[in-house]
Amino acid sequence: MPAMSRPLISRRAEPLTGRAKVPGDKSISHRALMFGALAVGESRIEGLLEGDDVLRTAQAMRALGAEVEKLEDGSWRLWGRGVGGLMEPADLLDLGNSGTGARLMMGLVATHPFTTFFTGDASLRSRPMKRVSEPLSRMGAKFVTREGGRLPAAVVGTTNPVPITYELPVASAQVKSAILLAGLNTPGETTVIEREATRDHTELMLRHFGANVTTTIREDGARVVTVTGFPELTGRTVIVPADPSSAAFPLVAALVVPGSTVTLVGIGMNPLRTGLFQTLREMGADIRTDNPRIEGGEEVADLVVTSSALRGVDVPAERAPSMIDEYPILAVAASFAAGTTRMFGLSELRVKESDRFTATMNGLRACGVEVEAEGDTLIVHGKGAPPPGGATIAVNLDHRIAMSFLVMGMAAAQPVAVDDAEAVDTSFPGFVELMNGLGSAIEGN
Ligand code: S3P
Repeated sequence: MPAMSRPLISRRAEPLTGRAKVPGDKSISHRALMFGALAVGESRIEGLLEGDDVLRTAQAMRALGAEVEKLEDGSWRLWGRGVGGLMEPADLLDLGNSGTGARLMMGLVATHPFTTFFTGDASLRSRPMKRVSEPLSRMGAKFVTREGGRLPAAVVGTTNPVPITYELPVASAQVKSAILLAGLNTPGETTVIEREATRDHTELMLRHFGANVTTTIREDGARVVTVTGFPELTGRTVIVPADPSSAAFPLVAALVVPGSTVTLVGIGMNPLRTGLFQTLREMGADIRTDNPRIEGGEEVADLVVTSSALRGVDVPAERAPSMIDEYPILAVAASFAAGTTRMFGLSELRVKESDRFTATMNGLRACGVEVEAEGDTLIVHGKGAPPPGGATIAVNLDHRIAMSFLVMGMAAAQPVAVDDAEAVDTSFPGFVELMNGLGSAIEGN
């Protein structure tokens, strides 16, 4: 039986004020669970995102033989199996809505000598997996997938893994990570070359657990990332920073709701994740960085955001990997700005939890915003005033589309509704409570 839908409506907000801590980083949370399961001995995770995507990964790591439990103090404890020590799961792994969970785990099991069956929800079952099955096949794994390389899929792990050097055809941290994780249980050196830098949480955290991972810059600027096989990973503590991709929603809300000042604490500031903050500042956003510090090997800071008059800018394609999940909410910000915002190089947006390129364009148009698409460029014509709003947006199992348009409703002339906000829990459980605590007016519709 499909879950009941959760329609919500967002009306004009009071000025947003206060301090808030958004949930833990989704990318880091998935990796902490996976690497803890591969390490010898006990690992602890503090600040884990307890969203549906990550809980599915926790469940999958249990199915692969690791001990994973939540402790009374809210932290998580893992007892890992050592590199190469994962066990054949007795049943399908259902990764729900999570591309990160599915793709990284395919890498993990590709070089273990057993067969794993993967599935997910309707969104995940529609997403391309060839981008991982292709390089992992070169390492020796076999894949049986549905038409177009889609889930459900069986991964027949290899007993004789071959190290590869692979140049990424798309800028994707998930693909990079899948190959590096397969490389852990492979003799010799496995190398991924990326022309555009993508988030490097896998590299940073593998080093934290004791693996030998090197990153060098080639003459042409490409990054060459190499992992040495059969490392002795040992249990560690991981402190998960607050997710900058989740912070994006209250942050843009505070910018567009007049009279707001909001402090967002402990936000991850990994430079490969902060493209949105840079872009918004170029648009004239007042975002102050307070207390920059290193926590658990990652840069974090508090962000103090004050509502600002925004202006349109050009966002270069090179910046896309550092803000790939933030375009829907940036497009919402751009529709309040004076002048045109052009976002280049958005082809990857079409293969996220939904086709976010089309969803963003259609949603903004339904809210009375003038939008154009030219190939992979999305062009938003802002009027420097609140857009009309007054629409109901189809979410199509996409958490970021739901949250983006709920933010739109906080400052648009008319309320904005979403047909089903259930997906929000994949990355941001407690979103409505947190936002309403700051002054928004989101309620059941
Ligand atoms: C992620 C990488 C990105 C991003 C996703 C999380 C990760 O996907 O969109 O939300 O944790 O590695 P791609 O690798 O497909 O760009």
